[in-house]
Amino acid sequence: MKRKSVIDIKNQKGKTPIVCLTAYTSPIARSIDGCGDLLLVGDSLGMVLYDYQNTLPVTLFQMIEHSKSVVNVTKQSCVIVDMPFGTYEESVGKAFMNAAKVMKETNCNGVKLEGGRNMFETVKYLTDRSIPVMGHIGLQPQSVLIDGGYKVKGRNKFDWGKYIDDAIAIEEAGAFSVVLEGMAEPLAAEITSRISIPTIGIGASPNCDGQVLVTEDMLGLTNIAPKFVKKYADLESLIKKAAHQYADEVRNREFPGKEHTYAMNPQIVRKGDED
Ligand code: KIV
Repeated sequence: MKRKSVIDIKNQKGKTPIVCLTAYTSPIARSIDGCGDLLLVGDSLGMVLYDYQNTLPVTLFQMIEHSKSVVNVTKQSCVIVDMPFGTYEESVGKAFMNAAKVMKETNCNGVKLEGGRNMFETVKYLTDRSIPVMGHIGLQPQSVLIDGGYKVKGRNKFDWGKYIDDAIAIEEAGAFSVVLEGMAEPLAAEITSRISIPTIGIGASPNCDGQVLVTEDMLGLTNIAPKFVKKYADLESLIKKAAHQYADEVRNREFPGKEHTYAMNPQIVRKGDED
């Protein structure tokens, strides 16, 4: 089975909904490869795996190391890697150097960066130089400090102009798709109908061309539960149950059993027999 390309993803608009999940580690990536179309190595890994307060401390090194493991164990999904805060905003040249480093070292299919009209030049500079870019507009987690929190956008129609313009700018700059995060449904629907690249929603209603969720959220491995998350499994309970059973069996000397234990080789009776 061939790995999906960014062109395959772009061509899904108006045909099949795009299914995207985050993946930061090889066990998760291996388990979910091929369930959907896209795997996103999101900088949300800072909060999910490292318990940071927000995504701002995440480094390029962390993104690259996690992305390598995701690309290495997957065969079917298009893999997109988040550019972390501080690695692309300063200049188009710096954005290119860092995005090219991500592409070369991870072998991913493209990068994602946050921003709308303000990132037009950067997205254009990257796409003109062969780096596929996914945009990310609406609620931008890397702007949490200046925004004063994680606030849903577009609840007020007077704000819509900015977000529609952001989406148009990202499309005109050459992005192959755009994430719409934390948006009132009618705004997400309006943007999805106004641009020709796919919109991928998270907390942005069914009126997007695709959906993305943080895998650990939907598997019940995180304890935050924003309204937009549906829990498809309760892995935390399963893990606790298994760990308790293991602990009991070690204490009762039930584990390891005979089947987990190495016996001596009856063929080896004196030194040198092992040859
Ligand atoms: O970092 C991330 O996981 C993301 C998605 C939630 C869109 O940006």
